[in-house]
Amino acid sequence: MAFDIINAQSYIPSFIEAYTRYNISKILEFGEGDGTRFFLDNSDFVCSVEVIAYSYHKEWLDKCSSMYKNEKSNGKWMQVPFICSEELVNVDQMCQKGVQSDLTLYTKELQLILEKALSYGPYDLAFVDYGIHLRADMVNMLFNKVSIIAAHDTNVSPNMYGWDRIVVPPNYSKITFMEEYLGTTFWVKNDTNLISGGLNGF
Ligand SMILES: C[S@@+](CC[C@H](N)C(=O)[O-])C[C@H]1O[C@@H](n2cnc3c(N)ncnc32)[C@H](O)[C@@H]1O
Repeated sequence: MAFDIINAQSYIPSFIEAYTRYNISKILEFGEGDGTRFFLDNSDFVCSVEVIAYSYHKEWLDKCSSMYKNEKSNGKWMQVPFICSEELVNVDQMCQKGVQSDLTLYTKELQLILEKALSYGPYDLAFVDYGIHLRADMVNMLFNKVSIIAAHDTNVSPNMYGWDRIVVPPNYSKITFMEEYLGTTFWVKNDTNLISGGLNGF
């Protein structure tokens, strides 16, 4: 797998900005990695869901398990693996070719993944950056379950990630804190409390 190490955590400046505006202490992360360190250092609790579609996802799970073993043993980090069905793997492979499949084929499984993750909540923020490509669908499912939702790579590969399928409910606002090439987008519930009024009168 060609993994883009340089750009992988390009979202961090956006999160630094988000942390100055909102109280973010409990995080739900879809896709773990080096960036998990940032959340662990800046939050009270992180739940990382690793959806395992390919063998390298399992290897990555084990690597992260040893990277964050201290946080795991002291309860600050919850690692939640989810082995996905062959059907979901097929859907993901179609995504990689830029072909979106019918949502009914995989919506139940995504809901199961989300339900499992939410059982360790509630969360202040959910971040969708996992190794499978059904990111927009997970963003849609998170509306009205978590107040602040973020996703990475929103400037690129719309056919792969399905970004055009995101339907923002009227009680959320879409926000881009920082411009960056790959793109990090936040959707924030309108009644989310700001820390001392936020920056720049936001
Ligand atoms: C885009 S990465 C981002 C994960 C996390 N948000 C971060 O920034 O560290 C998403 C997925 O790619 C895989 N992955 C991450 N780093 C990897 C690496 N160095 N080599 C192979 N796979 C990796 C893992 O399955 C991970 O969940």
